[in-house]
Amino acid sequence: MQKFLEWAAPDSREFRLARQLDPAKLPGHIAVIMDGNGRWAKRRALPRVAGHRAGVQSVREIIESCCRLGIEALTLYAFSVENWKRPKFEIETLWRLLSHYLHVELPELKANNVRFQTIGRIEALPQKTRDDIDYAIVETAANTGLRLNVALNYSGRTEIVDAVNSLLRRSRRTGAPLEIDEQMFSDQLCTAGLPNPDLLIRTSGEVRISNFLLWQIAYSEIWVTEKYWPDFRPVDLLESLLDFQKRDRRYGGLNGRETPRAELAAAGTPPYSHE
Ligand code: FPP
Repeated sequence: MQKFLEWAAPDSREFRLARQLDPAKLPGHIAVIMDGNGRWAKRRALPRVAGHRAGVQSVREIIESCCRLGIEALTLYAFSVENWKRPKFEIETLWRLLSHYLHVELPELKANNVRFQTIGRIEALPQKTRDDIDYAIVETAANTGLRLNVALNYSGRTEIVDAVNSLLRRSRRTGAPLEIDEQMFSDQLCTAGLPNPDLLIRTSGEVRISNFLLWQIAYSEIWVTEKYWPDFRPVDLLESLLDFQKRDRRYGGLNGRETPRAELAAAGTPPYSHE
């Protein structure tokens, strides 16, 4: 947080907004559905890929801001399993943009102590993209700052099915009983070891989840902005954080905290009650 205040110009909106934030109540994990690149481009009579290109600058600024604010984890939805339906040129441009981003930004990610990872079925991506991803993962593996996850060829439903299959395989292999609890299931997901997202941001005004982190967002606060992703700036992130800090998070109870899974298991109570 201090880093953000040192970075922002004292007469800027960013500074004014950041000053209003309570550093003790920042979300641990922010997930973002980056939407509206195509419409951003269309509005300017540009090809859709120009929107993706412009969206990279937003990616850059939001990652930097999360580092300065001291956010623990950031997950960006960059490519869903459904996105393969798009024209070949658009898909290939997205892979090129990702490779270019990793090539140009890797020194900065390392300098900022960012640990880069991906979620999704990466094996379906072109070999060159996978090599660039693997390189960035290895190069940042020892970093202890922001955990940056980029969702690529990701689907929340696929992730859940994969987790179930993995548990079934383990049970067949070891003869372990086929009874699981929430923690065992969470440990099979690609977000294992990360806190669940506290805040889910979606740009471009659409109010839907689009198959993103279905299990993990059970208690996330959702914040939607009309802005298209290429227009999303640190100021917008700060607005979302201020709004987040005003929310009354009850997790179905009254005491404002998510009941630890171990406690629920001990009580034999699944957290099914509605807020
Ligand atoms: C959604 O907008 C955006 C995407 C499918 C791609 C997001 C990719 C980037 C921001 C650039 C590369 C990413 C990284 C991490 C370097 P849309 O095309 O669905 O917009 P529309 O709904 O207006 O058509």
